[in-house]
Amino acid sequence: MNKKIIKKKIYIKTWGCQMNEHDSSIIENILTKTNNYVITKNPEKSDILILNTCSIREKAQEKLFHQLGRWKNFQKKNSNIRIAVGGCVATQEGKKIYKRARFVNIIFGPQTLHKLPELIHQSYHTTNLIIDVTTSSLKKFESSINTRVNKKFTSFVTIMEGCNKYCSFCIVPYSRGKEVSRQHKHILSEIKKLSTLGVREVVLLGQNVNAYKTYDYINKIKYNFSDLLYSISRIPKINRIRYITSHPMEFGEDIITAYKYIPQLTNFLHLPVQSGSNKILRLMKRGYTIEEYEDLINKLKFIRPNISISSDFIVGFPGETHQDFQKTLQFISKINFDTSYSFIYSPRPGTRAAKLADCTTIEEKKNRLSLLQKKITQQSFQWRRRMLGTVQSVLVEGSSKNNTQELYGRTENNRIIYFFGKSELIGNFVQLKVIDINYNTYLKGVIN
Ligand code: SAH
Ligand code: F3S
Repeated sequence: MNKKIIKKKIYIKTWGCQMNEHDSSIIENILTKTNNYVITKNPEKSDILILNTCSIREKAQEKLFHQLGRWKNFQKKNSNIRIAVGGCVATQEGKKIYKRARFVNIIFGPQTLHKLPELIHQSYHTTNLIIDVTTSSLKKFESSINTRVNKKFTSFVTIMEGCNKYCSFCIVPYSRGKEVSRQHKHILSEIKKLSTLGVREVVLLGQNVNAYKTYDYINKIKYNFSDLLYSISRIPKINRIRYITSHPMEFGEDIITAYKYIPQLTNFLHLPVQSGSNKILRLMKRGYTIEEYEDLINKLKFIRPNISISSDFIVGFPGETHQDFQKTLQFISKINFDTSYSFIYSPRPGTRAAKLADCTTIEEKKNRLSLLQKKITQQSFQWRRRMLGTVQSVLVEGSSKNNTQELYGRTENNRIIYFFGKSELIGNFVQLKVIDINYNTYLKGVIN
């Protein structure tokens, strides 16, 4: 007689970046694949609590111990509960976490999450802390080819990890390690598999996707990011290709030219500039000037006149004066950014910028952030206004909650658009004429 397996319940809490969100979906994948675990949304009812941490922009340590404190209470009631801490903070703090929180059972890093089933298994046979935070491995991807589609018709696909750029404010090169690229054969077979599952849009993921490179030792051929884009464009049914995040410094002519020959590349590019002041860019060690950035965008606009550009900005970087900030505002107008993520600078321990003198008050920084965000919101609205009356290619994602005859999808520049249509259209592309816009939420369209 078959013995019924009682699956252990896993609760995963994720902090921060897109990379981490994706890592958590890999954790889910790896654990559920073993058939011993199920995912729960209720931490109080779970057997294993996993915290996937991120320290890019916030002081993560205190937040970590607060969170662990809450989970400790669950473990007090049930000593069988296992607590695992992963992600960047785990790599950086390692054993220090255990010193302050002795009840933690497992510490794993972003590169060792594929070992979790084994680490969890071990944790039931020892009272010692299990720690594995080795870096520079991409094994996790190959042990969990991503056949889980993030959003039915769109899927993230990691192509590289880590970063060698060492921008002076950033913790990533320390927490995620050096740049490592996945073998293109693995990436392509993953995307092919995803396409058979209905995926129509892929988002290539990496800290610096355009630093992607592999080497074919047998045929002695270098293979870089634009080569990968061309290969993906030949996969049937993958009609949209996006990527995050690319770096202006390595955005070569070959990538610009790809926009001419690869229609699947969206008319939308997220290319973080961080500041509009060359002095600040130098202090940030970004490796380009605003003139070079502008030149790059102009070349892209020559090929794709309607391309919309989004960016990341840091305000209040040490040494940023009122004039520097004004330059950022002027640059925002000049490039006519469509959207942005913007942050107040937060010193990260161990980074070069953390040693720089910083005289700007937090009130002033908040004021600058709000001015910047207001400006981008206005520009974003102008972009939306210009879409009125145009025909947009839309990937239909589903039907509206309130009215099943109303469908919704996403335009190339990431706007949600509602329209009336048959449910067969879900998962396909339609051409929609934009007939109504809304200040900051969605658009309305009709089939063209
Ligand atoms: N690899 C990407 C993203 C890195 S982190 C890149 O090349 O830009 C994502 C964003 O977080 C950064 O672009 C930056 O705007 C912001 N960020 C990183 N470190 C920060 C810090 N110490 N303080 C504030 N914002 C930060
Ligand atoms: Fe960070 Fe700069 Fe790399 S922002 S991820 S060090 S490109």
